[in-house]
Amino acid sequence: MKSLTTLIGIICLMGLPIGQASAFDIQAGKSQVTENCTSCHGSELYTRKDRLVTSRKGLSAQVQRCQLALNLNWFDDEVENTAEYLNQDYYHFNK
Ligand code: HEC
Repeated sequence: MKSLTTLIGIICLMGLPIGQASAFDIQAGKSQVTENCTSCHGSELYTRKDRLVTSRKGLSAQVQRCQLALNLNWFDDEVENTAEYLNQDYYHFNK
């Protein structure tokens, strides 16, 4: 019983940073874009008039699509760091 309580405690702690704005690592997101994403398109795609992405949620989804297509096997937080970096520098969606 005691180990179950500990396990639940650990799971709760792990879930803690999710959803907090400060949990994003913008610098990490930026490096990831520089390292992995510039071979097909540069930043012109993010600012063009008829861009595909129209919401913050859609931005995460598109980052997910591109990283999956590249077989990068990113974790969710890597996808989110990158999406948040692109949002701050280019898209400017209000969450
Ligand atoms: C193999 C080529 C390729 C690479 C590498 C690539 N992408 Fe893309 N990306 C595309 C294509 C193709 C589109 C869709 C363009 C279109 O349909 O007009 C796109 C579109 C996007 C868009 C939407 C742009 C818009 O119109 O709003 C985002 C955001 C994006 N990519 C992010 C990324 C990220 C982040 C990475 C690095 C993980 C990445 N891409 C790497 C091919 C690539």
